[in-house]
Amino acid sequence: MSNLCYQTKDLMMEDVALSDIVSAYGTPTFVYSLDQIKKSFLAYKSAFGGRDHLICYAVKANSNLSILKVLSELGAGFDIVSEGEFYRVKKISDSFDNIVFSGVGKRYQEIVNTIEAGVGTINVESSSELQRVAGIAEKLQLCVPIALRVNPNVDPKTHPYVSTGLKENKFGISIDDAPFLYDEIASNKYLEAKGVACHIGSQLTDISPIEESVSQVISLLKKIESKGIKVAQVDCGGGLGIPYSNDEECPSPRVLVEMLVNKIPEEYKIVIEPGRSIVGSAGVLLTNIEYIKSVPSKNFVIVDAAMTELIRPALYRSSHKIIHLREKQLDEALQFEVVGPVCETGDWLGHGIKLEPEEGETLAICDAGAYGFTMASNYNSRVRAAEVLVEGDKFKLIRNRESFEQLVENEIHHVGKNK
Ligand code: LLP
Repeated sequence: MSNLCYQTKDLMMEDVALSDIVSAYGTPTFVYSLDQIKKSFLAYKSAFGGRDHLICYAVKANSNLSILKVLSELGAGFDIVSEGEFYRVKKISDSFDNIVFSGVGKRYQEIVNTIEAGVGTINVESSSELQRVAGIAEKLQLCVPIALRVNPNVDPKTHPYVSTGLKENKFGISIDDAPFLYDEIASNKYLEAKGVACHIGSQLTDISPIEESVSQVISLLKKIESKGIKVAQVDCGGGLGIPYSNDEECPSPRVLVEMLVNKIPEEYKIVIEPGRSIVGSAGVLLTNIEYIKSVPSKNFVIVDAAMTELIRPALYRSSHKIIHLREKQLDEALQFEVVGPVCETGDWLGHGIKLEPEEGETLAICDAGAYGFTMASNYNSRVRAAEVLVEGDKFKLIRNRESFEQLVENEIHHVGKNK
């Protein structure tokens, strides 16, 4: 929601009227504020002061190449979870030692390729994965830097679908089992015990669960040190939330980083993997009102964006603010269900949104910079949206709207046309 304000009734992002972007590129379109992305990243960076650290931006939050490039130029490393994400990073940077490769289901070839490329740390999530990495390391005759991602069994108090640090979740290695696996790493000349990693969930509005998991990680460090195993870095994952509604409050990056710096002994480098808190508030999704329609109990605004552009409301029942591009008093406002054209009743973008809608006008769905475009789909054969980056009073297209040719390009050569 930051970097948005009305000026003479026009909704502006930085010094650009969003209506100019609609005129240039149509809807649905994602628009991001460069200034906001930089500010959020630098808020983390400056909070570390002189402390040795690495901010690995979680590519999954928003993987547009232009955004990765900006963050890389500011000094970010990257948290990747697939070769596809690695491929993206390789397009904008030549240094891979600042990458952590996370993920619970890394495939054999993905591990080979990232090890060969010299990725900084492989965050291993199971004993089986450790065996696989060890086998590959030996085969390649390379020493692979490993962090074990531990599961501290801490409730992050967030939506169950994005809660990852409970013992029943598929993520990480039980923190009690970790010392044995560190023994294995230490006794294998092809493996280096580089760190410990922990990520307990996303959209956390309270940092005390992170603090609790860091305490457990520190106890683990003491245990393995007593056996002579000394790691260099502690990776605390991502997870800091952003306020999606007016009554939601979230700690700032500074508060999180100060807690980490105070808690984690000086000799360890601190790694973090923020995604949402860097790009989430920097983006809006612009969408046109196609129709207004009422049924006995509800009023609908039917827009041209859908769960295919922003699945968060449908998947997590999350609420995003939705506002007019042309400012209105909202004295006469009714409450509307903002829904898309997709053939599912669950295809909604907002419940009970106060609007004074008119067909043909544009709405902005706020805080859509993270997990918006990256979770988009082609369901209903809808083409994926355009993406635009705003910088001061300028804006530029950073991803074309997908074309119908692109939609069928992997199928068209397999069919002929019926006469
Ligand atoms: N590190 C790891 C290992 C992760 O799994 C994630 C997110 C992050 C870092 C970044 O977390 P963040 O700082 O963005 O919270 N689609 C969901 C969020 C899924 C998060 C998945 N993992 C949503 O739209 O709310």
